[in-house]
Amino acid sequence: MKYCLGLLLFILCTCSSPTEHDGEPLLFPANFATTFQAVRDCRLSNAHDMHFISVAANAKAANAYRDDRYPLPVGSILVKTLHDDPTCTTPVGYVAMRKDGDWVWQKTAANFEVRDTGALQSCIACHSACGDRDLTCTDP
Ligand code: HEC
Repeated sequence: MKYCLGLLLFILCTCSSPTEHDGEPLLFPANFATTFQAVRDCRLSNAHDMHFISVAANAKAANAYRDDRYPLPVGSILVKTLHDDPTCTTPVGYVAMRKDGDWVWQKTAANFEVRDTGALQSCIACHSACGDRDLTCTDP
């Protein structure tokens, strides 16, 4: 009986650990969907593994990004939400860029578990090819 209880606790602890973020902080608030502005509508992306995507920006970035005024100010945060469904209802993951001087890049799971953060070369290489838009890529 004692052994069973121990095993149960072990299973509970192991199963709950994926919600931790590995110590890497999010570049954006987890409630951004309600606090940021929607700046690009739901559309099919061929860049991010054939997902339907939408883009949100914080207050610092929103107007400049909407009006194509580059470079965006320091403190800008852009979050692209990836979805499998064409109405962009259920998030399956996020990619974000935050301008702390240079852009910092991040990829997270749908539960905001951080997958990778930093000056990620794969992100930068592709975004550099999008034209003269301060490394942003999404057409209005
Ligand atoms: C193969 C090219 C490619 C790679 C690699 C790529 N992106 Fe993108 N990204 C795009 C394109 C194209 C868009 C425009 C929207 C779309 O079509 O998906 C975009 C849009 C975005 C946006 C919305 C803001 C904007 O307009 O640029 C963010 C945020 C973003 N990507 C983050 C990332 C991060 C973080 C990574 C690396 C983990 C990454 N991207 C890797 C091509 C790429």
